[in-house]
Amino acid sequence: MTAMQNVSLGAHYAVHLPAPDDFAFWRERARALIQCDIPPDRISWVEPGSTGDLFAAEGPARREKRLPTPEPDAQPVRASKRFMKLARNAALHSDQQRFGLLYRMLWRLQSNPRAMEDKADPDVRQIEELDKSVRRDSHKMHAFVRFRAVDEDHYVAWFEPDHHIVRANASFFMRRFANMNWSILTPRGCIHWDGETMRESGPARREDAPQGDPVEDLWKSYYASIFNPARLKVGAMLSEMPKKYWKNMPEAELIPDLIAGAQAREAGMVAAGEREERGRPDTLEAVARGIAGCRDCPIAECGTRAVMGEGPPNAPLMIVGEQPGDQEDIGGRPFIGPAGQLLDDYLNSTGIDRAAAYVTNAVKHFKFAQRGKRRIHQSPQAKEIDTCRWWLEAEREIVKPRLVLALGASAARSFLGKTVSISKARGASIALEDGAELWVTAHPSYLLRLDGEAREKQSALFANDLAAVRERLVELGV
Ligand code: URA
Repeated sequence: MTAMQNVSLGAHYAVHLPAPDDFAFWRERARALIQCDIPPDRISWVEPGSTGDLFAAEGPARREKRLPTPEPDAQPVRASKRFMKLARNAALHSDQQRFGLLYRMLWRLQSNPRAMEDKADPDVRQIEELDKSVRRDSHKMHAFVRFRAVDEDHYVAWFEPDHHIVRANASFFMRRFANMNWSILTPRGCIHWDGETMRESGPARREDAPQGDPVEDLWKSYYASIFNPARLKVGAMLSEMPKKYWKNMPEAELIPDLIAGAQAREAGMVAAGEREERGRPDTLEAVARGIAGCRDCPIAECGTRAVMGEGPPNAPLMIVGEQPGDQEDIGGRPFIGPAGQLLDDYLNSTGIDRAAAYVTNAVKHFKFAQRGKRRIHQSPQAKEIDTCRWWLEAEREIVKPRLVLALGASAARSFLGKTVSISKARGASIALEDGAELWVTAHPSYLLRLDGEAREKQSALFANDLAAVRERLVELGV
């Protein structure tokens, strides 16, 4: 039976979307339906929990009618880049008719590929309106989410989006607050980041979120970190934060200093450029001398010393952590504290010889906050990791490892230039420019922070990742 025969004359189809923001699902179904020549008025797009199933009255069998499948040689579906760009965003709108509207437009594009160019066309205008409204909502989320501390290590924010934008904006917050443990609660679903993996959960209520003042220091450091004179004009930055909000926002008091500090930061960037001109050190001893004297970021003023990597200068495996901790700062060697002991246990049980590996960190100084006698680990900011990357790259150029094992999101960022979710990056190698293979796994101190089932699960994943690295070393014969 051909697809066309399969399509009974005048039949209606209900397409049930698994989630209200599942554009990929809509796109796949829409393509197939167009290829089967099903016109827009014979399809209802139903999102979870909606009353939008126009054909529900015709009974469940009718609703679940199997969708036709296109012939293998069906004509490809035409969609302009502009349509796809707008549609991806418009699909996040809360208007229940949006998927039908997008299908109608896609249908029309098949006979008139330039239909999107008609600015006066009511469908085009409506799609543009939806896109604009979703963009405005995302912008509000970026600008006005405020975290509150629920305990020393966990921050929670409440936000009420107008549209289904939460999942689509998760990576924005992941990048901005990469090294924190945070949750954003919303009535449309929640996202949680623990410094390594992103998790989702169902809708929350206002009462689930903590009340009180936002965490001023945290917000200020975020704000200062995005205030980059090279990328943002001061005016644009200020216009993101309308004056009427200033009095409620802890970061507003930073603005005069930030403007004054912009020139100093520019000077810092010039210094980094000069460093580049001098060229990278070409021995590990020169790297050690270089990091000891480096003052290119504020962490360099912290702690006792820069901690240099250690291991054979031609090691086939390079293991990279985040930054030295309290004990490493005192002892002057990487991974000799509790996280290092856990790492050693796993390396031993996997059969990887630590002494044959070069072990180092993405950031060379210990960043901490003094609390009484204790020095509490503070995660490095993205730009601090990026600044220190120069030294890590120098170490890698000298050692030339075949495999690099990045422990945690900070180390992974050093190689990938962006923050990635460990759950997505682990399990397969990533080719680096010089042909080395990057393997990403969790940081052992992440395991130390977990307990119960979560610890068991993450420990098993960690052990698997190390086993894959060991297997690869054996395959390479190194
Ligand atoms: N954590 C790291 O990332 N590196 C160390 O050296 C110690 C703890």
